Amino acid sequence: MSSPINADTLLELVKNRRTYYPLSKELPISNERVQEIVKTALQHVPSSFNSQSNRVVVLFGAEHEKLWDFTTEVLKTIVPAESWESTGGRMAMFKAAAGSVLFYEDEAVVKGMQEKFAIYADNFPIWAHHSVAMLQHTVWMALEAEGLGANLQHYNPLADAKIAEEWKIPATWKLTAQLVFGGKTGPAGDKTFVPVEDIFKAYGA
Ligand SMILES: Cc1cc2nc3c(=O)[nH]c(=O)nc-3n(C[C@H](O)[C@H](O)[C@H](O)COP(=O)(O)O)c2cc1C
Repeated sequence: MSSPINADTLLELVKNRRTYYPLSKELPISNERVQEIVKTALQHVPSSFNSQSNRVVVLFGAEHEKLWDFTTEVLKTIVPAESWESTGGRMAMFKAAAGSVLFYEDEAVVKGMQEKFAIYADNFPIWAHHSVAMLQHTVWMALEAEGLGANLQHYNPLADAKIAEEWKIPATWKLTAQLVFGGKTGPAGDKTFVPVEDIFKAYGA
């Protein structure tokens, strides 16, 4: 029996996910729906040995704005004044979006796995990175599927301490990325592709 959903449905979503900036505060879906999407992805994305090391914090509205204010404050202390215009402009652009998804890895889980399965000790931190990357992609793709735009940022660890203090983040949670989301204000930029023949091999088909 053929299923109404096949790989093409998913691959369309994979192809449609793009980087969008700038973003607006107008979301085509409710904040509750955003949370539902993130929670479902968080629970179902795989992790090594089902260790479930991923953690997420979603910031909306004024809380999201605070995140970019904190990051701006730290950047101001390290970016030379002559380069500030471009950095400050980027911060204002992120702040103008609707929200941010903060992706964390729980190092306590990773450490627990290393102790439990010493033979794979070196791999658990790497596998935790793989799992959180899978989660980032899934959330990004799912938000795009509902008409939102998003872009992935890596301003950690600049404001990690301030963020942890503000939103009561456990000490073992390590920030890995920030997905800024909002309403699309224009098309995604052009994208080029390496020829697939250069990067793919198959044998025995
Ligand atoms: C691991 C990873 C790190 C990235 N880091 C950043 C980043 O720090 N800032 C940013 O604006 N985009 C970042 N991006 C977005 C990429 O530049 C973007 O995905 C790529 O150019 C392809 O464009 P697309 O997202 O429209 O398909 C990152 C993407 C990945 C997968």
